[in-house]
Amino acid sequence: MTQTPTPPIVDEPFPLPRRWGDAEVARLTEAMQQDSLFYWQGPQTENLYAAFRAIYPLRTIFPCSSGTASVHLAVAALKFKPGEEVIVPAITDMGSVLGMLHQLLVPVFADIEPRTYNLSPTSIRAAITPKTRAILAVHLCGNPCDLDAIMQIAREHQLVVIEDCAQAWGTRYGNDYVGLIGDLGCWSFNDYKHLSCGDGGVVGTNRVDLASHLAKWGDKCYNRITGIRNPDELAYNYRISEPLSAICTAQLEKHDRIVKPRTAMGRRLTDGISEVPGILPPVFRPEDTPTFYNYIFRLDLAELTGTRDQFVAALVAEGVKANSYLPDPVYRYDLFQQHNFFAGTWPVRDFGLTAMDYTQVCCPESESFLQDCVHLPFNEAMTASYIDKVSLAIRTVAQRFSR
Ligand SMILES: Cc1ncc(COP(=O)(O)O)c(C=O)c1O
Repeated sequence: MTQTPTPPIVDEPFPLPRRWGDAEVARLTEAMQQDSLFYWQGPQTENLYAAFRAIYPLRTIFPCSSGTASVHLAVAALKFKPGEEVIVPAITDMGSVLGMLHQLLVPVFADIEPRTYNLSPTSIRAAITPKTRAILAVHLCGNPCDLDAIMQIAREHQLVVIEDCAQAWGTRYGNDYVGLIGDLGCWSFNDYKHLSCGDGGVVGTNRVDLASHLAKWGDKCYNRITGIRNPDELAYNYRISEPLSAICTAQLEKHDRIVKPRTAMGRRLTDGISEVPGILPPVFRPEDTPTFYNYIFRLDLAELTGTRDQFVAALVAEGVKANSYLPDPVYRYDLFQQHNFFAGTWPVRDFGLTAMDYTQVCCPESESFLQDCVHLPFNEAMTASYIDKVSLAIRTVAQRFSR
């Protein structure tokens, strides 16, 4: 007799939201009737400024072409000198560090906290040298960093804090949105982010001394306000354009509708898998509002039989969309291991401005995190009943793998 296979616990397709709709089409149509799609004083980009500031009331913002561009603009505006150092978490996207490398700065990797996956204040302190100028606080997975501790360290050592909010649209630290607390905030509108126009970004600050640098630096060092064209610094073209601004504006108008369900469902999943032997859900302060860009939990492999990859495979067999997240901390990529930053060279080191050797870097918590974490893609279309099936699947697999 053939046995009927048991259906997976998650017996429905992975929910997908409709991300762009009538509002985006209406604004794009408006843009298509303009005679210019240039950002400067363009009506769509003016709308974007207003829509962004209605949520994130920063004094100066510069919408730009990507999250990578936004972080590059932030570090460039600070005018650090070649060889100066910025402390960054070992677990992040390349976009967090690319601009630093291009500015001939030295990213110094610090370790993460085991249960928030964000920069560890102890590790930041250990990474500070006389050359440290800034901390890049990446709010990974939409969970805020320990900003009280980070701001305190920054005050003690006169460091700038740049907040990388690429994964943290709508995330609050206490009552405040992340991105408004440090010296500069950076956001991404890439295709994977909570809000998206395909590719885009925003950098912003309340610091008056940085205001004009952002706009000039993202626009080839042309001064659009005076109209004078006499670049006095090496800068890039990181401009947004009107069609992208049109889409971003419509997305910002849906900001709360996109981020709030993620918060509710992420909290629900956390409640559903707390107190399960072998499962270590992420940890949040009750007063904060994480917005779950994705959902990552860790396995206590001492409590479980089998490997993380076997656990992931068992979850997938139960219909859960799960994978093992990133292969390596950023410093382990070939680029860093080979110091291959400029055609096989690294001028900063060749000219004696740093002794950094990325082959010697090791952030142990980041390394073990990537060995035992389980990554679940997440979005605002997930319903309570879907989330409950996912948590049942995790509990069931954990039970099956228990020692
Ligand atoms: C934390 C973080 N910073 C920066 C970036 C770079 O953003 P973009 O892809 O828009 O350049 C990303 C994108 O994945 C990110 O997750």
